[in-house]
Amino acid sequence: MPEQVVVRPGGPLRGTLRVPGDKSISHRALICNALAPGEAEIRGLLDSADCRSTIACLRQWGVQFEESADRILVRSPGQDGFRPAAQVLDCGNSGTSIRLLSGVAAGLPFRSRFDGDESLRRRPMRRVLDPLTQMGAAVDLADTAPFWIDGAPGLTRGFDREIAVASAQVKSCIVFAALRAERPSRIVEPGPSRDHTERMLIAMGAGLDVRGAAIHVEPGAELTPQDLEVPGDISAAAYWIIAAAMTPGSEVLLPNIGVNPRRTGVIDVLRDMGVRVELVNRRDVSGEPVADIVARGGRLHPTLIDGDTVVRAVDEIPTLAVAAALADGVTEIRDAAELRVKESDRIATTASLLRAMGVEVEERPDGMRIVGGRLRGGELDSHGDHRIAMTAAVAALAADRESGPTTIRGAAAVEISYPSFWRDLDQLRHVAV
Ligand code: S3P
Repeated sequence: MPEQVVVRPGGPLRGTLRVPGDKSISHRALICNALAPGEAEIRGLLDSADCRSTIACLRQWGVQFEESADRILVRSPGQDGFRPAAQVLDCGNSGTSIRLLSGVAAGLPFRSRFDGDESLRRRPMRRVLDPLTQMGAAVDLADTAPFWIDGAPGLTRGFDREIAVASAQVKSCIVFAALRAERPSRIVEPGPSRDHTERMLIAMGAGLDVRGAAIHVEPGAELTPQDLEVPGDISAAAYWIIAAAMTPGSEVLLPNIGVNPRRTGVIDVLRDMGVRVELVNRRDVSGEPVADIVARGGRLHPTLIDGDTVVRAVDEIPTLAVAAALADGVTEIRDAAELRVKESDRIATTASLLRAMGVEVEERPDGMRIVGGRLRGGELDSHGDHRIAMTAAVAALAADRESGPTTIRGAAAVEISYPSFWRDLDQLRHVAV
């Protein structure tokens, strides 16, 4: 994987592209099936560094995985049969691995030690460690990784309040711990974060009941393993949808994409900006809504991105900010302070990317103000953040032709969620118009 990539401004994007499996659903397919005694087959799993972190941690607890070309078999003794990990559970770059597995560790009768890479070691962990402590787990109350958790099969208390941030990682952590508590829990969400964990656990027979913003968990039910098919990742598709939107004359078909309503904020924002995005062939696959997405290019109008839309488009905001740079007016992003604690400070890294391409942008504590106009090719850096690397590529494609190519350093970061990204970029560009 090259560390540095040069991307020339492109003409229209044309063609059909299959994007890899959804990252969030892949982590959950592995973890939820690991909690259930027995075997399950997962098809379409994302094969990327983040999912490999989850697999490596679960292996240490005694879960077996058999990989073949198009599927992975999970064979587990169930959570009651887990054994202590011999080594620290290294979650690499993956916030989803460390936070979801912390919730599982809280229900295990031994100590689990967690750590991650430089970026993960900077990310806030009290948001999961505080609730786990309140539920009765003995926890090393560190602000950041590394930390340890001394779990217990029957946590003394349930959880009964609103969680502090609209975060699916925090919510899922508490849900996994609540499955092993002595008492029922009620977890109230402050915003509509992705609900893949709830959907999957309900299908596996967990005592979970979702009423509005409240998730009720009745502990103790034995989970049944589930064969699952993971749909294409809308967060990966979003790069092509936005790249197509920014280049008039483009038309891209992205088959088999997960379109869970808590993930489709990106489509709502683009439609608001005047982009034609169509969802066709809608169906349900393994309990998740799926569709084929057709994205086209056109003129872009400015918009306001705030409130629940931010929660429903949390990973797509940097790329939407790039689209806003070509809109005919001023776009504002508000209520997005969570972006500061992702794989990089995505408000800072996005603003600096836009500035490097000649865009007028004002950074704010919870968002930014972007003056639409044009993008000029330049020198960009991913800051080790996969989503910033791919956002940089989209910006480079849509830059003025006269301004020349863009050099993207730290391009290998795409390994985290979309290893074939640079190949797919070539494929879409080389299809004759
Ligand atoms: C994820 C949830 C989001 C998202 C991350 C994946 C998940 O984080 O940014 O890429 O799989 O639960 P938060 O839940 O912390 O917002």
